[in-house]
Amino acid sequence: MKEIEKITEKKRKGKKLNRAEIEFFVNGYTSGALSDEEMTELLKAICEKGMTEKETVTLTTAMLNSGNKIDLSDLGVCLDKHSSGGVSDSTTLILAPILASLGLKIVKMSGRSLGFTGGTIDKFETFGTNTSLSLDEAKEIAQKVGAVILCQTENLVPADKKLYALRDRTGTVASMPLIASSIVSKKLASGAKIIVLDVKYGEGAFMNNLIEAKNLASLMVKVLKKHKILACAVVSDMNQPLGYNIGNFMEVKEVIEELKHNTDSRLLTLSKTIASLLVSMKEGISLNAASKKVEFAVSDGLAYEKLKEMVIAQGGNLDMFKEEKLSFVSVPCEESGFVKSIKTKELGELTHEIARIKGCKGIKVLLKVGDRIRLGEEMIRIYAPKKYADMFYEKFKNTIVICKEKVQPLPLIYDILD
Ligand code: URA
Repeated sequence: MKEIEKITEKKRKGKKLNRAEIEFFVNGYTSGALSDEEMTELLKAICEKGMTEKETVTLTTAMLNSGNKIDLSDLGVCLDKHSSGGVSDSTTLILAPILASLGLKIVKMSGRSLGFTGGTIDKFETFGTNTSLSLDEAKEIAQKVGAVILCQTENLVPADKKLYALRDRTGTVASMPLIASSIVSKKLASGAKIIVLDVKYGEGAFMNNLIEAKNLASLMVKVLKKHKILACAVVSDMNQPLGYNIGNFMEVKEVIEELKHNTDSRLLTLSKTIASLLVSMKEGISLNAASKKVEFAVSDGLAYEKLKEMVIAQGGNLDMFKEEKLSFVSVPCEESGFVKSIKTKELGELTHEIARIKGCKGIKVLLKVGDRIRLGEEMIRIYAPKKYADMFYEKFKNTIVICKEKVQPLPLIYDILD
């Protein structure tokens, strides 16, 4: 029997794999010595039988060691955050300038849109910025401005690149140890020493079960801590879009408005919470004291000024967001009542579809779950030429479910785990 078959057989029986065995399959698959079929059999066994915390830590380390680790120590202690992905989630574009305006450093490696979820890189590039930076270029900007947003470098955890693609093709994504090791290995390789994870739970997230979202968050924090990273996790709601706008252009417009006007929206509240957790860990101060600093950075306009500075440093500008009347088609409500639910994943998918059409900027959902609405009031604005908006009208209308009974608003944060 080949070594990989022995390892797979051991996992199928529910036994723990040791370091040598885990390193064998990570290195073997990354180098091409193991085939997709051999690896898939093992992934299936891991999905079925799981892994202990110790195995997950070992797997994360083996994946981390498959590529280069970024050294950011010349910038001091850098901060980072990770979101497990959702709809209308532009927290990075808000919290990065907040942190930088407080004199902290964040080198944010981000991804592009995945499925129905948005990607920070696509949003930041709406400003006309260059995100394909070398590490030296990124460090230079971070040194000057405090924050930089860039695409993941080519050699960041090659084991994950291959394994993630295989998991995607073979339906073996949904496994707690595989997700945790995939996310955490990339965070560890990115060089930050203080990290907040934002694990999304809900209909518009990859985790649809609250207990599982909390378990994943807790596992990832433990693995990060085993690697000497100061970390905590927020489990936040994704049963409705986080902000009001969906689509790159509209989301960036919302970011600018939030930073300019300092509202009490869910998007800004969550961004401030994550920023405060990072400030509190970095400076060793209470969360309350950190929140006051963050609040000041926004209310005093420092964070907004810093966002402009970040955009200019990466070759972009804010000109396209200057007061220009965007035309839209309104979708009114056809009955009075309360918002029972918002089909978040579908909204994400529909917006992806419409935003690909020339002249379409995205949408605005004017309601949150629990809001009261009367017949004829606006529910959604579709920012697209009329002929295209009309094509999508019915589909968007059906994403908001109205009922007669009063509905409780949804929590924003379910838990903070450290
Ligand atoms: N995001 C990742 O980076 N990896 C996973 O496995 C799931 C989500």
